[in-house]
Amino acid sequence: MKRLFLLLTLFVFVGVTVAVAVPPGKTLTFDKSPMGPVEFSGTVHKDAGVSCKECHNKDMFPKMKKGTVEITMTKIYAGELCGACHNGTRAFEAKKSCNRCHVK
Ligand code: HEC
Ligand code: HEC
Ligand code: HEC
Repeated sequence: MKRLFLLLTLFVFVGVTVAVAVPPGKTLTFDKSPMGPVEFSGTVHKDAGVSCKECHNKDMFPKMKKGTVEITMTKIYAGELCGACHNGTRAFEAKKSCNRCHVK
C-alpha cells in the first residue's frame, strides 16, 4: 500500500515537472554561436501551429531535453533540424535572416 502511494506520488510529480518544462511558455537559449545567442520560443512555435511531434521525433529532436542535439548551420541549410521548416516555405528562410534567430 505504501509502495502504491509512493508510485502515485511519483507519477503526479513527473506529470507536473513535464508540464512546467514544456516549451510553450518557455524559451530555450542556445548560446554557443559566435553570431549571438538564439532564442527559441515554444510559444511562437505553438501559436504557429507546430505540433510537438513535428520536432520531437527520431529524426529531429528525439529527446525533450536541452543540449542533446548539436545544431549547426550546415545541417540547417541542408534542411535538417530547424532547417526542415526555416527554408522559406513553411517559415522564414535561415540563409536570409540570420538575425531573426541570432539576437545580439
Ligand atoms: C519547432 C520545434 C519544437 C516544437 C514544436 C516543440 N519543441 Fe520541445 N524542444 C525543441 C528543441 C530544439 C529542444 C531542445 C533540444 C536539444 O537541445 O537537444 C526542445 C526541448 C524540449 C524540452 C526540454 C526543455 C529543457 O529545458 O531542457 C521539453 C520538455 C520539450 N521540448 C517539450 C515539448 C512539448 C511538450 C512540445 C509540444 C507542446 C514541444 N516541446 C514542441 C523543439 C521543439
Ligand atoms: C516544424 C517546423 C519548424 C521547426 C522544425 C522550427 N521552426 Fe521556428 N518557426 C516555425 C514557424 C511556422 C514559425 C512562424 C512563422 C515564421 O516566423 O516564419 C517559426 C518561427 C520562429 C522564430 C520567430 C522569428 C520571429 O521573428 O518572430 C524563431 C526565432 C524560430 N522559429 C527559431 C527556430 C529554431 C532556432 C529552430 C530549431 C531549434 C526552429 N525554429 C525550428 C516552424 C519551425
Ligand atoms: C532558424 C534559426 C536560425 C537562423 C535563421 C540562423 N541560425 Fe545560425 N544557428 C542557429 C542555432 C539554433 C545554432 C546553434 C547554436 C548553439 O548550439 O548554441 C546556430 C549556430 C550558428 C553558428 C555556430 C555553429 C556553426 O554551424 O558554425 C554560426 C556561425 C551561425 N549559426 C551563423 C548563422 C548565420 C551567418 C546565419 C544567417 C545566414 C544564421 N546562423 C541563421 C539557428 C539559426
